[in-house]
Amino acid sequence: MKASVIHDFGTPSVFSYQDVATPDPTAGHVVVKVAACGLNRYDLYLRMGGITRDIKMPHVMGADITGTIAAIGEGVEGFSEGQRVIVAPGFPVDPNDWDHEPINQAPGYAVTGTHQWGGYAEYTRMPARFIIPDETGLPQDALATVPLCLTTAMHAVKTLGEVGERTRVFVQAGASGSGSMCIQVARALGAEVMTIVGSEPKVETARSVGADHVLRRGIDDQVQRVREWTDGAGVDVVIDNVGSEAFQANMESLRVGGIFVNFGLVSGYRTEFNLKNFFFSHHILKGSMMGTGQELAEGLVLLKSGKIKPVLDKTFPLQDAAAAHEYIESRQVRGNVVLIP
Ligand SMILES: NC(=O)c1ccc[n+]([C@@H]2O[C@H](COP(=O)([O-])OP(=O)(O)OC[C@H]3O[C@@H](n4cnc5c(N)ncnc54)[C@H](OP(=O)(O)O)[C@@H]3O)[C@@H](O)[C@H]2O)c1
Repeated sequence: MKASVIHDFGTPSVFSYQDVATPDPTAGHVVVKVAACGLNRYDLYLRMGGITRDIKMPHVMGADITGTIAAIGEGVEGFSEGQRVIVAPGFPVDPNDWDHEPINQAPGYAVTGTHQWGGYAEYTRMPARFIIPDETGLPQDALATVPLCLTTAMHAVKTLGEVGERTRVFVQAGASGSGSMCIQVARALGAEVMTIVGSEPKVETARSVGADHVLRRGIDDQVQRVREWTDGAGVDVVIDNVGSEAFQANMESLRVGGIFVNFGLVSGYRTEFNLKNFFFSHHILKGSMMGTGQELAEGLVLLKSGKIKPVLDKTFPLQDAAAAHEYIESRQVRGNVVLIP
C-alpha cells in the first residue's frame, strides 16, 4: 500500500510517499481501508519529535481516521467487511490498560497513530475494541475532522467546564480545529460564547460555528470586552488551547469561582501564575487531555442530530502530507484539514 511516512523527526520535508507493507488483520484487530485522515496540530508536534522520540522509524502517523472494514482478525465479532467505521482518536498502548477508567487517564493512553501506525496510509490496523460504527451519514472526508476535536471538546467543555444552559464561556482561538468544536459543544449545551481569532476570515468561521461574540487578537482588549459583556463579573468558564500568551488575559476574564480548562499550548507552555489572585478569586484550574469513548459517543449523537457540524477547511491528497503540515503551521487553517488516500 501507499503511505506518507516519516523516517526521522523534523520539518515537513521528513515525509516520504512510498510503498509499505499492507497490514494483516491480527487477532482482535481489524484492518480499515482509510477513506480520509484528519490532521491536528498534534501531528506537527509528533512529526517534530515534541511528543515522544521513542518511536520506531519509519512511522505512519494520523489519529482521525474514517473508512471501511477491509479485513477482520480472529476473535472479532460485530463487524462486517465494507462497513463504515470511525477509529477512536486515542487509546492506551498496553491492552492491560484498556479497562482503565476513565480511559484517558490510563498510564499509556496516547493519541492514535503515536505508538502504532495510523491513518496517513491506504490501510491501517487497529484493535477492534477501538472501532466505532459510523452511523452519522456524513461524507467521510468531513467526518475525519471530527473524532479528536469532538472527544476533546466534550471532555473539556461539558465534563470539566460543567457548561450548561446560559453558562457564559470564553473559548480561545475559535476558528482552530479544537476551538471551533468547543464553541459548537458549548452552544449545543445552551451556553453563550465569546471567542477571539487572529484574522478576518477566521471571524466568519467562528460566527458560522455559533460564537455570539468574536474578538480580534491584537485588536480587541479581551479582558475589557469580557467585562463589558458580563456586566463586570467575568465569564463562568474559559476554554484554552493557546497557553502562555493568553494565560494572563484568560485568568483575568474569569468570574469569582470560575473554571479555567486548559488543553493546549500553541503559544508556549510556561507562564507566570499569580497565586494571590487565584485563591482570592476561588478560581478552579483544570487540565484536560482528550476524553473517553462515552464522551465521543455523546458527541456523535449531537453530530448526527445536526447540532454540531464538521469544519472541513480543505483536503489534500495523501502524498501531500508535507503541504498539509505546512498549511497548519502557517496558521491559516480554519477547522481541520484532511488527507485523502
Ligand atoms: N489536550 C487535548 O486533548 C488536545 C486536543 C486537541 C488539541 N489540543 C491542543 O490544542 C492546541 C490547538 O490545537 P488545534 O489542532 O486546534 O490547532 P490549530 O487548528 O492549528 O489552531 C491553533 C490556533 O491557535 C492560535 N494561536 C494563538 N497563538 C498562536 C501562536 N503563537 N502560534 C500559532 N497559533 C496561535 C491560532 O489561531 P488565531 O490565528 O485565530 O489566533 C491558530 O490557528 C494545540 O496545542 C493542541 O496540541 C490538545
